[in-house]
Amino acid sequence: MQNEKDKVESIRAKFSDEFRRFSNIQKSKFDDVTLSVAEKLQKELAELRIKHTGKRSELSGAKKLIGKVSPDKRAEFGKFVQTIGKKIETSIQEAETNLKSYITKATIEREKIDVTLPGHRPRTGHLHPITLLRQKIEDIFVSMGYAIEDDREIETDYYNFDALNIPKNHPARESQDTFYTTKGFALRSQTSTVQIRAMERRGVPLRIIAPGRVFRRDTPDQTHTPMFHQIEGLCIDKDITMAHLKGTVTEWLRRMYGKETRTRFRPSYFPFTEPSAEFDFSCFKCEGNGEFKGDKCGTCRGSGWIELGGCGMVHPNVLKTCGVDHKIYSGFAFGFGLERMCALMYSLDDIRLMFENDIRFLEQFR
Ligand code: DAH
Repeated sequence: MQNEKDKVESIRAKFSDEFRRFSNIQKSKFDDVTLSVAEKLQKELAELRIKHTGKRSELSGAKKLIGKVSPDKRAEFGKFVQTIGKKIETSIQEAETNLKSYITKATIEREKIDVTLPGHRPRTGHLHPITLLRQKIEDIFVSMGYAIEDDREIETDYYNFDALNIPKNHPARESQDTFYTTKGFALRSQTSTVQIRAMERRGVPLRIIAPGRVFRRDTPDQTHTPMFHQIEGLCIDKDITMAHLKGTVTEWLRRMYGKETRTRFRPSYFPFTEPSAEFDFSCFKCEGNGEFKGDKCGTCRGSGWIELGGCGMVHPNVLKTCGVDHKIYSGFAFGFGLERMCALMYSLDDIRLMFENDIRFLEQFR
């Protein structure tokens, strides 16, 4: 029987040897055991259990020896095997229980959330500076009885040029070269197209402003982008004179930049107006002095004036084209670009900033 006993003893020794690495766990010592290490140990412990207590383990082989031991020693040997078996089972069980409760605790710890921590505030969007400026101008004109007219960006030559008294081969067409889409269509190069569209659609009398995108084949630089925004104004009624034009533009700019704002109209040429003018207003930065804090004003470059747009009395040919009797009705029109105006107001040295969608730039306008 000594032989058999030795065998069982060696089974126990082998187990002890392999179980040694779990002895701290059996004693519930978990220093430096991370959750992932604990989970790995749990798996290894399960393998160890199968190896040492499973059906094909040496221990279960030893149990089969019991019947082979001589009857007088059988009980003693049986007890011996059972005791060793129990010890092995107990060790494993204790380690398993401790590991399991440690893993549960560590998992809860890891998944715990501190509800008092400040959350991530979602970033709310806001309007683009061009939109803000457009809305401000729209508000002023709406308060003066103007309607906002929206129209298409893809136009025919007829609306972009012919109807505006710009015949084929007229040099004004060249500076407004645009992008051609399908045959006969192109992206509008000016919002003046809406003068024609609005008169055709609504008839006269009429008071509208038409904000929108326009396109030109310009190479982008600090002051040019192939797409930009304009606002067109049109007022047609009986007895409309240049005085109404000047009064309207001046009132609008005073509401934008303050009561002291002065305006200036310089003779100019546009095919669709006669007479034509360009309008300037006194610089909002230096109040028209040309000097700001002892230096040449950077906004108006020292002139005291800011050039904004074109205007004039609607050409009789344009009225005729739209079926309006130019002997009964007259009117004025004006147009200007929004990017330039915006760049001046915020001292931007490059209008491309407005189309780059850089949050660091845009955020300044919330
Ligand atoms: N459409 C012109 C341009 O893009 C601007 C303009 C000038 C509009 C005079 C007008 C006007 O209505 O009367 O350069």
